[in-house]
Amino acid sequence: MKKKIYIKTYGCQMNVYDTERMVDVMAPEGYEPSDTPEGADLVVLNTCHIREKAAEKVYSDIGRIRRIKDEKKKNGEDMVLAVGGCVAQAEGAEIMKRAPVVDMVFGPQTYHNLPKMVKQSISLKQRGEKSRILDTDLAVDEKFDQLSKKDVKKKPTAFLTIQEGCDKFCTYCVVPYTRGSEFSRTIEDVMKDARKLADAGVVEVTLLGQNVNAYHGVSGSGDEWGLPELITELAKIDGFERIRYTTSHPHDMTDELLRVHGDVKECMPYLHLPVQAGSDKILKAMNRSHDSASYKRTIAKLREIRPDLALSGDFIVGFPGETEEDFEQTMQLVREVTYAQAYSFKFSPRPGTPAALMDDQVDEDVKSTRLTKLQALLKEQQTAFNNSVVGRVLPVLVESTGKTKGAAFGRSPYMQAVQISLGNKSYDDLYGKIVDVLIEEGGPFNIQGVLA
Ligand code: 5AD
Ligand code: SF4
Repeated sequence: MKKKIYIKTYGCQMNVYDTERMVDVMAPEGYEPSDTPEGADLVVLNTCHIREKAAEKVYSDIGRIRRIKDEKKKNGEDMVLAVGGCVAQAEGAEIMKRAPVVDMVFGPQTYHNLPKMVKQSISLKQRGEKSRILDTDLAVDEKFDQLSKKDVKKKPTAFLTIQEGCDKFCTYCVVPYTRGSEFSRTIEDVMKDARKLADAGVVEVTLLGQNVNAYHGVSGSGDEWGLPELITELAKIDGFERIRYTTSHPHDMTDELLRVHGDVKECMPYLHLPVQAGSDKILKAMNRSHDSASYKRTIAKLREIRPDLALSGDFIVGFPGETEEDFEQTMQLVREVTYAQAYSFKFSPRPGTPAALMDDQVDEDVKSTRLTKLQALLKEQQTAFNNSVVGRVLPVLVESTGKTKGAAFGRSPYMQAVQISLGNKSYDDLYGKIVDVLIEEGGPFNIQGVLA
């Protein structure tokens, strides 16, 4: 009989990718994905540790799943509850202690062992023993070796992890501790996975890495490619019409990579390039290895190459020592640079990071006030960007059905979420295709258009 796996994904796109791979590795074991934890034989919480609330949420979800598991037990059934991802990596032993209901804990680099761990857990329980499995090894290569062999499902967009981990050690960030040190997959492995995606009908591929533009893959014959070479080669694969990459660090935004945005038509006019703050004093305390001037120079060069570039970013407000004046410099940078969209957060002291121990922590209410101000400005800019495309015909990749009947959902080259009225055209005919859409309505979030 088929078994059911339910995975809840928290946090970043890398986790979304990892979740898909977990589904892949469990499929040959007879597990089918389920949309709810009720009735599932295996529940995985694929967690994120980047900010505080995420970890709290995991514990409250564990409580929720425990009740479902207890109900199942009353009926003589059981469930394996696993916690994976970055909270698991950082706090594995703590989770085991605090939540006895959890059967196993594994980190982001060991989920290829999931089938083995699940079998082990089930057999321990069948023998009447406690299932307490912990696997948080940080070696990456073996994982990719195992995962590459899996087949891929047919869909128009896909993530492809090319790089993982980070050596930058920004003083607020847990990634170098939870994902481990910087690792680039080999050229052969990436190209093999890419061809598989193209064969499965993928039109838009998003290359993933915590520091994706630090990619430096080698090949068996001794070649070494950076991200510019990789994008250039991927663009030659039949079927790939759109290439994106995320997340980049300003330090690794080389001139060659900037030029790719002009030379390779498949490379989309969109870039997520976090700056975090506008004050050089704060950037230094964050150990960012760039300052506000170098960041602005990079953006200016890129806009010379791609004047229509849609820029996205990440911001942290209330980093230790951030004064009103420092914060105003962040606001000023945003006004100068202008963003098409962005993510912004209150600084959250993460255990084990240097910034958590710094003096001059900023009061929560000050952080909240600053975040509200920054988000208002960013929303204004996002709306302005979206409004600027009204009246234009944009190529939109149809990814799913829309919010209403007779509508589809897709993304513009600028990553805008577009609701498309299909008129008398059928969704099934357009799914996975890039169609011309006349944008009629802007606004802060979904923009609206009709088939042109
Ligand atoms: N507090 C707040 N935001 C953080 N980020 C990373 N660590 C923290 C932290 N400790 C944000 C950064 C990063 C994004 C993924 O999350 O802006 O770019
Ligand atoms: Fe974290 Fe900085 Fe590395 Fe990004 S570059 S993952 S913020 S340490």
